[in-house]
Amino acid sequence: MQKSLSIIISLCCVFLISHSAVAESTAKLTLPPASLAKWYKPDNKRQVWLHTMFRLRRAMQAINDYADQNNQAGMQKWAEKLNKDYLKIADMIPEWKKEIKPALLPELQMFIDNADNKRVVATLNMIQRTCDDCHDTYQPLVTAIYRSPGYDDIKVKTVTGKPSDFADEMEALSIALNRVLIALDDNQQAIALQASKDLRTQLHQLGESCEQCHQEDPAPRERILGMATEQRLQSLQTSITNQQIKDSQKLMGEIGVNVCARCHNTHRTLGDLRKALLH
Ligand code: HEC
Ligand code: HEC
Ligand code: HEC
Repeated sequence: MQKSLSIIISLCCVFLISHSAVAESTAKLTLPPASLAKWYKPDNKRQVWLHTMFRLRRAMQAINDYADQNNQAGMQKWAEKLNKDYLKIADMIPEWKKEIKPALLPELQMFIDNADNKRVVATLNMIQRTCDDCHDTYQPLVTAIYRSPGYDDIKVKTVTGKPSDFADEMEALSIALNRVLIALDDNQQAIALQASKDLRTQLHQLGESCEQCHQEDPAPRERILGMATEQRLQSLQTSITNQQIKDSQKLMGEIGVNVCARCHNTHRTLGDLRKALLH
C-alpha cells in the first residue's frame, strides 16, 4: 500500500518583519514509504538500502567506462550486477515499483551483446534519469530520517552531576550563556562570574557525552570542547574578575561561534529536521 504522507513546513520569517506584514511560504515534501525502515538500522544490522545504492552507482560507472574502452567482457560482468541491484529496488520497496524502468535492462544487455557502445551509453543515461527522479524527491528526506543521529537517548549530566536529558541541558546552557551576557551588560560582576563558571562545568559535562556516538574517537570532542575552548573559558573568568567587560563580551562571542554554533551546524540542523519529519 502506498503510504505517502505529505507534510507542509511553514517557514515564517519573523525577524525580517516589523509589525505589519507577515511573510509566509510553504514547501511540500513527500515522505518515503515507512517500509524503508526494514533496510536501515536499527531494524536491520546494516544500512542495506544505502549499500545497494553505492553498488548501483559503481555498476553504472563501470559499464560507462568499459563502453568507452570497448571492453565487452567488462560490460557483461557489471551489467549482471546492475540487473540484480536495479531489480532489488522494487523487491525491497514494492511501493517504489513505478519509480524504475526494468524494461531498460534487456535493452542494455542487447546493445552490450551487439557491442553497440553508443546505444549502451544512451541506455545508461535513460536508466540514470530514473535514479535522478527518485533522488530528487526522496534522497534528502531518507538521509534525514534514517541516517541522522537522534539525541533523545543521549545521557548527560547537570551542572551538579545529576542525570539529565540532552534537550534540558541545552536549555540550561542557553540560560547560563545569556545570564553571563545580561550580567555583563548590566555590570553585575558576581552574577557574571558565577554563570561563567556554571557554563564551563556544563560544557565539561556535555563533553562527557560525546563518546556515546563518537566511540573511541577523541578528535570531535577536542575540536569543539578541547584546549582552545578551555582556554577561552578560563580567560573569561579572568576578564570578568578584572572587570574587562569588552574582552569578556568578545570571548563570549567566540564561545558562541566556536562551541554552540559549530556543534549545531553538524548536529542540530539535521537532528531538528529528522524530528520535524518523524513527528
Ligand atoms: C553536541 C554538540 C552541541 C553543543 C556543543 C551545543 N549544542 Fe545545543 N544542541 C545540540 C543538538 C544536537 C540540539 C538538538 C537537540 C535535539 O534534537 O533534541 C541542540 C539544541 C539546542 C537548543 C534547543 C533546545 C531544545 O529545546 O530543543 C538550545 C537552546 C541550544 N542547543 C543551546 C546551546 C548553547 C547555548 C550551546 C553553547 C553554550 C550549545 N547549545 C552547545 C548540540 C550541541
Ligand atoms: C526509487 C528510488 C530510488 C531509485 C530508483 C534510485 N535511488 Fe539511489 N537513493 C535513493 C534514496 C532514498 C537514497 C538516499 C539513501 C540514504 O541517504 O541513506 C539514495 C541514495 C543513493 C546514493 C548515495 C548518495 C550518497 O552519496 O549518499 C547513490 C550513489 C545512489 N542512490 C545511486 C543510485 C543509482 C546509480 C540509481 C539508478 C541506477 C539509483 N540510485 C536509483 C533512492 C533511489
Ligand atoms: C547522537 C550522536 C552524536 C553525539 C551525542 C555527538 N555527535 Fe558529533 N557527530 C555525530 C555524527 C553522526 C556526525 C557526522 C559524521 C561523523 O563524524 O560520524 C558528527 C560529527 C561531529 C563533528 C564533525 C566531524 C568530526 O568528526 O570532526 C564534530 C567536531 C563533532 N561531531 C563533535 C561532537 C562533540 C563535541 C560532541 C559532544 C559534545 C558530539 N559530537 C556528540 C553524532 C553525534
